[in-house]
Amino acid sequence: MSEETTSARTKYDGVAKTLHWIVALLMIVMLTAGWTLGDLPLDEKVQTLVIHSSLGLSVFILMFIRLYWRRKNPPPALPDHMPAWQVTASKFSHHGLYFFVILQPLLGLGQSMYADFDVRPYGAFNVNMGANETLYGIFHELHEINAMILIALVLLHLGAALYHHFVQKDTVLKRMLPYGKV
Ligand code: HEM
Repeated sequence: MSEETTSARTKYDGVAKTLHWIVALLMIVMLTAGWTLGDLPLDEKVQTLVIHSSLGLSVFILMFIRLYWRRKNPPPALPDHMPAWQVTASKFSHHGLYFFVILQPLLGLGQSMYADFDVRPYGAFNVNMGANETLYGIFHELHEINAMILIALVLLHLGAALYHHFVQKDTVLKRMLPYGKV
């Protein structure tokens, strides 16, 4: 999936926009509220993890729907005025976002499988397979480091969108906005 695979369209379709903003909202919630989990008393943590794991797995599923939709409906081309380094940076950061966002729920799942408490996505099933302190520790660290990488990428993404809108004054942000007129 790359920015070269673009269409003649000038803006994103409704499905791509909806998926983008649902995932964006979920990521903001997860990347802010997630840090409080460690401080909760055990019973409250297990209850909160029902919501955390459900939203996280939903992000995972939504990302594959996004990839499928993007393949069938290539994004509009980037503006001609962008220098080559910005096009490359944009490609890297978008690929990075897809990669690390998809990786995060997998690391959360790994952590939950070896925790000494239950994790029940959607309240439907328990992913815990029995406590293993070493594996729990490894996945816990990776889930935390990946969350920090994601925060950095999201901030970069946001900064780039604002730069396009307010400095370059092009349509890059507007074409992704729900009612953006391009
Ligand atoms: C978009 C997806 C996700 C994001 C952004 C996310 C984010 C976070 C963050 C920021 C933390 C706090 C890290 C720390 O304090 O060390 C955390 C903790 C945790 N997450 Fe996730 N998470 C996601 C998905 C999942 C999934 C799908 C699961 C389980 C199936 C999960 C299970 C956990 C567990 C067990 C903890 C640690 C609780 C503890 O402190 O013991 N996460 N997550």
